[in-house]
Amino acid sequence: MKKKILVTKPIPKNVEEYLHENCDEVTVWNSNSMMPEDKLAEQLKDITGLITTNKYKIDCELLSNAPKLKFVSNIAVGYNGFDIEEMKKRNVVGMHTPSVLDETVADLAFTLMLSAARRIGLLDRYIKDGKWTESIGKDLFGLNVYGKKLGILGLGRIGSKVAKRAKMGFDMDVSYFDAFRKAAFEQELGVHYAAIETIMAESDFVLVMLPLMKETENLIDYEKLSLMKPNAILINSSRGEIVNEGDLVRILEEGKIFGAALDVFHEEPIPYNHPLLQFDNVLTTPHIGSAVEETRNEMAWTAARNIVNSINGAGKTFIVPELQESIQRA
Ligand code: GLV
Repeated sequence: MKKKILVTKPIPKNVEEYLHENCDEVTVWNSNSMMPEDKLAEQLKDITGLITTNKYKIDCELLSNAPKLKFVSNIAVGYNGFDIEEMKKRNVVGMHTPSVLDETVADLAFTLMLSAARRIGLLDRYIKDGKWTESIGKDLFGLNVYGKKLGILGLGRIGSKVAKRAKMGFDMDVSYFDAFRKAAFEQELGVHYAAIETIMAESDFVLVMLPLMKETENLIDYEKLSLMKPNAILINSSRGEIVNEGDLVRILEEGKIFGAALDVFHEEPIPYNHPLLQFDNVLTTPHIGSAVEETRNEMAWTAARNIVNSINGAGKTFIVPELQESIQRA
């Protein structure tokens, strides 16, 4: 089998060299914009491995154009770009980059919580717009974070790192919802399990940290948002599609919550005139959860090793849970 690899985004030079040393042919698309369709189709024809991101949907269309493709390695922990059923049908192995970004994304989630509580984005603009001419009034005051209630929806690797920061650094009362109960972690850290509705109704800060799946798409809708306290803040640093954005706009228009802090959106980049961007109490960042050079380098290394090790049939690979059976059959 000829080891021909396509990488759909720029990667560090030393990672590229490693791929060249270990594969027969490597093409790197050295731009952050998407590959034009004709160039992508040309490459897909005879590649064995693809290193990519969720911007490229690994679906029936792409897979039909890539008859020799056996391994897809996402430079991300989330793999909502994978059409799992199509990949299973064709015995294509899908991999991702868990663990290496946990602390970095947890830092961002915490940053969003603190910044939204203290209105940092708004106040930064306030100074730069020349509005700081006298002491600020109560209308610009923020909220305390220390000792408050944090509800985490999704206590996976990243959610549990946020819980640790909240418990140990900020003495917060932490509750969580997850598809799986984490009894050992509850004991170790003193966090408690609760239903989503309880978390929405009782938390001062609600952090969405769930993976995007059919079951979580638009999970946080008007009904759930309406349960939140008037001084509560919603934070999302997992996937935009989990929060119904139209419903969030409605809740904000109705003034029912203190604010929101969002790193992720249904459409990315979010259009400049999107209704969510009209609110002073919505803090936004451009999907930067893992955007730290050391972390992004580690992610690129993990993605590259995933491909090389799979092709060689030796060494560690991070196959996504739903496809672990297919590798055994491949
Ligand atoms: C980023 O969103 C990731 O899934 O790694």
